[in-house]
Amino acid sequence: MTEPRQQLDGMQAYRRLLTYVVPHWKMFLLAIIGMVGFSITEVGFPALMKPLVDDSLIAQDPEAIALIPILLISLFAIRIVVNFVATYCMSYVGRAVIKQLRKEMFDHLLSLPTAVYDKTSSGSMLSRMSYDAEQVGRASTNAITVVIQEGLTAIGLIALMLYYSWELTLIFIVIGPFVAWVISFVSKKFRKVSKRIQNSMGGITHVTEEVIEGHRVVKTFGGQEVEAINFEKENDYNRKQKIKMDVLRVLSMGVVQLLVASGTALVIYYATSESMRDIVTPGVFVSILTTLIVLQRPIKRLTSVNEYLQTGIAAAQSIFTFLDLKKESDTGSTKLSEIKGNVTFSHVDFSYDADTGKVLEDISFTAEAGKTIAFVGRSGSGKTTLVNLLPRFYDSNSGVVSIDGHDIKDIELNNLRQHISLVSQHVTLFNDTIANNIAYGGLNNASRDEIEHAAKMAHVSEFVEKLPEGYDTMVGENGVLLSGGQRQRLAIARALLKNAPILILDEATSALDTESERHIQAALETLMKNRTTLVIAHRLSTIENADTIMVMHEGKIIEQGTHDELLRLDGRYALLHRMQFSDRED
Ligand SMILES: Nc1ncnc2c1ncn2[C@@H]1O[C@H](COP(=O)(O)OP(=O)(O)O)[C@@H](O)[C@H]1O
Ligand SMILES: [Mg+2]
Repeated sequence: MTEPRQQLDGMQAYRRLLTYVVPHWKMFLLAIIGMVGFSITEVGFPALMKPLVDDSLIAQDPEAIALIPILLISLFAIRIVVNFVATYCMSYVGRAVIKQLRKEMFDHLLSLPTAVYDKTSSGSMLSRMSYDAEQVGRASTNAITVVIQEGLTAIGLIALMLYYSWELTLIFIVIGPFVAWVISFVSKKFRKVSKRIQNSMGGITHVTEEVIEGHRVVKTFGGQEVEAINFEKENDYNRKQKIKMDVLRVLSMGVVQLLVASGTALVIYYATSESMRDIVTPGVFVSILTTLIVLQRPIKRLTSVNEYLQTGIAAAQSIFTFLDLKKESDTGSTKLSEIKGNVTFSHVDFSYDADTGKVLEDISFTAEAGKTIAFVGRSGSGKTTLVNLLPRFYDSNSGVVSIDGHDIKDIELNNLRQHISLVSQHVTLFNDTIANNIAYGGLNNASRDEIEHAAKMAHVSEFVEKLPEGYDTMVGENGVLLSGGQRQRLAIARALLKNAPILILDEATSALDTESERHIQAALETLMKNRTTLVIAHRLSTIENADTIMVMHEGKIIEQGTHDELLRLDGRYALLHRMQFSDRED
């Protein structure tokens, strides 16, 4: 994927992520209130231990004996409520953030230039949509919950200890910095490893996807072994990284807990020493001991918060990198309600990458409204690339492509594409019914009659009528349930229904047998009559009647003229023609 600019650093990514929380600040605030409430109840329990022991049990104070059990019950009842508020509100915010991110990613996906699709594997895109978005959700909820709720609890508990006996608490303040050091060390490691794990997850899905999509090729070319080796590599890499992460987590937690336990031992030792007996009442001792036990969980969770936070940040970086990819440039403002269909290319150069050579060089021609221009030439000579410039799937490096005298870069992108129908080499069908595939997208308000008329013209009705559910038959994922020729006929029907003044046929009938092609040829010819057509043909016989035939070679137009003119010229076209003619004789 083309990286648009420098990747955001962790802090930038986090700050940007927070902007997604801002619209939900009320819920967020409520969540924080719930968390604060929860922290208070957490501190309340050990705080009650001192009066429970000193006043109720030892001094037998009747007031305390009555009050403390009631306080204890209320404490836990309140705890349920505040915990619910905190969890519900946080989940609400987190899910809203995930949904928004996914929406923005999907919208962005719809507006990317073709070049990005060329370079992005769908596996890595899918993993961004599902895995990364989920991770980010965790970072923005779990991490915040832990930091605020457990952080406050820890602070409250430490304050309580200080209040009951600052002497004992000091010991903990001494080991504090050690813990902090371990946490910061581990956090750095985590960030690195979790980024690598995310990449290796993409590797696994990528290899799997390729095998699923290309299973026929894998089978016929005996690619199983290579694919298995590739997969093993990715799979094993992922395993190693995951283990590394688990080990790191366990070690970091263990070290931190050991430090905490040592502190606890010190406290117990110190509290029971001779000199302390007067200051530390049994109630204070029990309270502090309880505090230490309660303190374990917040500390444990605070040390593991890094894991969430770091994976979340790595995921956010990956998402924002994607969202920062430049959209298709759509700066034109001209909207043409109707066009005649005069298409002109003048001195157009194009290359896919700046560092590879020109794919199109100095292309100039005019297709007058209603005329048919055919492009012939060897595969790889740039025919598809040339016609792809017209709907601006790619933009020319220099030169001008214009429609009715308007530079297509000045025309609003959607408006431009409205006027163009395209049937390409690769037919795309959606997992829907045949009718909905013909009336796809902007055509979805076509009537059933119009759909069936288009279907009839494209000879789709021939096979649809034999299907039990007719036009309501589902075609399967990308139309796998149809043959290549049937798929192409559907694509032609779709173009017929669109009825746009400019028509691009890029080897539109290549998957048809000669018989069917001849049938459709008639339909195509009617279709081509009233509109400007750029047709790329693999069988020369289908374009003999074209108004002009352009012969392409290595990105240049080397001959142009009518069929007869080109035959008389006795150049490359005549050569191609002779070769195909002798093929047919065979
Ligand atoms: N998306 C792409 N990215 C980079 N290079 C491409 C891309 N598509 C085609 N090419 C290259 O551009 C040249 C012309 O290809 P194409 O226009 O598809 O030829 P044709 O349609 O005449 O067979 C080829 O060398 C091909 O390798
Ligand atoms: Mg092509």
